This record gives sequence, structure tokens and C-alpha cells, in this order.
Amino acid sequence: MATRLSGHPLIELDSVDSTNKYAADRLHLPELQHGTVILADEQTMGRGQRERTWVSAKGLDLTFSLVLRPQGLKAAGQFALAKVVALAVHDSVVEALRTARGLGVGAVHIKWPNDVLIGDRKVAGILIQNELAGERITASVVGVGLNVNSTELHQGLGSTSLRNEVGHPLDRAQVLNDVLARFDHWSEVSQLDPAAVDRAYADALWGRGRPMAVELDGASLIATPVDVDGHGRLRLRMPDGSEQAFGLDRLRFAPRYQ
Ligand code: BTN
Repeated sequence: MATRLSGHPLIELDSVDSTNKYAADRLHLPELQHGTVILADEQTMGRGQRERTWVSAKGLDLTFSLVLRPQGLKAAGQFALAKVVALAVHDSVVEALRTARGLGVGAVHIKWPNDVLIGDRKVAGILIQNELAGERITASVVGVGLNVNSTELHQGLGSTSLRNEVGHPLDRAQVLNDVLARFDHWSEVSQLDPAAVDRAYADALWGRGRPMAVELDGASLIATPVDVDGHGRLRLRMPDGSEQAFGLDRLRFAPRYQ
């Protein structure tokens, strides 16, 4: 382990199938201590949510996994970690845009549960894989794919990169450093004042207060995101005016937003 980044031990790999898999396969090793970052210049089989693949450009984007060994985090509290990670990435994207283009926070949102969008285009995806012992999380592998400098985007038409948005290449190490510092910040806030994390996440929520096309149990409807509940379910104002919360098992945004 040669270097540290923002106080985090760093393992740098030239090429790997997936940084999440690399970490998950080595969780039994004590060297992989809490806070270790595994960074790859290239992933040949990057994993995305819902069994999808994550494609990124070698040497241009950020693909990394953060290994966490939480103390006493119950499986039911998993979404607290997801919010912290999403806020860290969200704030770094805001900062990159603000510095380069003077764009405000209004341009960047978190699409439930944890994609980061600029406008309606995805700039980052997060995949958190947990190792459980009974009801407790013994380790988490937090995988982040952030499109930094790629100009040919592979995640479909609805994606973008920081470079596309600001018009010039950015320093990947600086962006990574910023994400890690913000992760540390939001982790601390989540210990001291969890309600502040909830508020920041709700403020950043994409589509909040806007009628959106969603699919509930496979049926299409228009409903308005309100916020998320303590289980990480999205709370929606339904067409009949009631508010109801649904998890990913039942709810997703309509395919045009995928
Ligand atoms: C998504 O589908 O939006 C989540 C994408 C997560 C991609 C990152 S890249 C680094 C880490 N290693 C992986 O194989 N996946 C995650």
C-alpha cells in the first residue's frame, strides 16, 4: 500500500475486473482496513445496480471502491450510509461545476436512491455491497463510478461527464480527494446530527415536488416525490393526494429516466 489520499489508505490498480469485486474478495485480509480506497485506472467488468454493467473510459474517469468496517451499523441502517455517499459525490460535483462554470447547486441532484445527475443526465453511480453477520453490517464496499473526463459516454443517452459540463478536463486525483473529504465530513455529520443528513438529502432529491412518471408494481403512473423515509423508501404524493412510501422492490422511475 504505497500512498494515502485525504487520510485514506490507497491501493492503485492499473486494470481490474471490478474494484468492488477486488475489495469483496479480500475483505478477510486485515490489511484492507477501514477507509481503504481501491482505485482502478480501468475496469474490465465494472458492476452497476440491478446486475447491470458499468462502463468507463480507461484513464479518464473515476472508478473506485471504499472499504468500510462499520462498528455497530445495523443492516436496517444501510440507507444512512447510502445517503452519506450520495451527498459526498453530489457536493463534489456541485463544487466542480461551481469552480469551473459558476453554476449553482440547483443543477445537481441525487436521483433516488443514489445516482448523481447534472440536469437530467447521470454523471455518477454508486453501488454499495454489504457483508452481514446476522443483523449487523461487518463490512461495506462502497463503489463509485464518476464520469470525469470521458467524452464518449457508454451509459446511454442520459449520461454526462464533468468534462462535458465544464468544457475542459479536470484533475481526477483532485476530484477523488474532494469526494473522500466530503465523505468524511458527511460521515461525521451523520454521527452528530443525522437529521441534517436527511435534510440535505431531501434538498438534493431529483424530481422533488415535480410530478414524475414512475412504475409501481409494473404499472405506470404520475406521482410526486416528497422525500425518503427512514428505510430508504421514496415517499410519493399519489394521484389521490395520499402520501405513500415504496422501496426499489416495487418502484422505479419510468424507463425514460433510467
Ligand atoms: C450504477 O449502476 O449506477 C452503479 C455503478 C457503480 C460503478 C462503480 S465503479 C467502481 C465500483 N466497482 C464496480 O464494479 N462498480 C462500482
